[in-house]
Amino acid sequence: MEKTNQKILEEIIRVDHAGERGAIKIYEGQLLALNTIKQDNSLKNIIKEMKEQEKEHYEYFDKQIQKRKIKPTYMLPIWDVMGVALGFGSALLGKKAAMLCTASVEEIIDEHYKNQLNKLGNDEKELKEKIEKFNEDENNHKNTAYEEGATNKGVYSIMDKLIKVGSKIAISISEKI
Ligand SMILES: [Fe+2]
Ligand SMILES: [Fe+2]
Repeated sequence: MEKTNQKILEEIIRVDHAGERGAIKIYEGQLLALNTIKQDNSLKNIIKEMKEQEKEHYEYFDKQIQKRKIKPTYMLPIWDVMGVALGFGSALLGKKAAMLCTASVEEIIDEHYKNQLNKLGNDEKELKEKIEKFNEDENNHKNTAYEEGATNKGVYSIMDKLIKVGSKIAISISEKI
């Protein structure tokens, strides 16, 4: 594919900007719980490390938003609140739930980023390379989450489904408005 459709390009940057910011907010919510009611230093360190990478991802898309004069999604303030709440709540439920939250989201993101890579043309080489690199990071986050005890068995399967459906809805909305 030679040239990227401009409308699709804007949607890609808008939604990724929102998603990476959402990831930071989820981790902020988890850290808030882990610093207060649910103290767990080893889990905290794992999350801090992943959060640093999400920051790097977010900053790239934030620069693109500014450089290309793309409107960020109107939903940002709402995603911020929901992200922190999801992070806080999942960490309160315990390590398995906290890590499942990462695993569930990253499984959706993997599909999402692969989908985007197919829509980007050769005129967006740098953006494609960034998304490929970020998706590698996301897959590492998913693997870390499973290594650290994420499970989608039993009652956790409900949480897995809710997070996945929620993420998909958030993606569709953030692309458009
Ligand atoms: Fe990320
Ligand atoms: Fe991630």
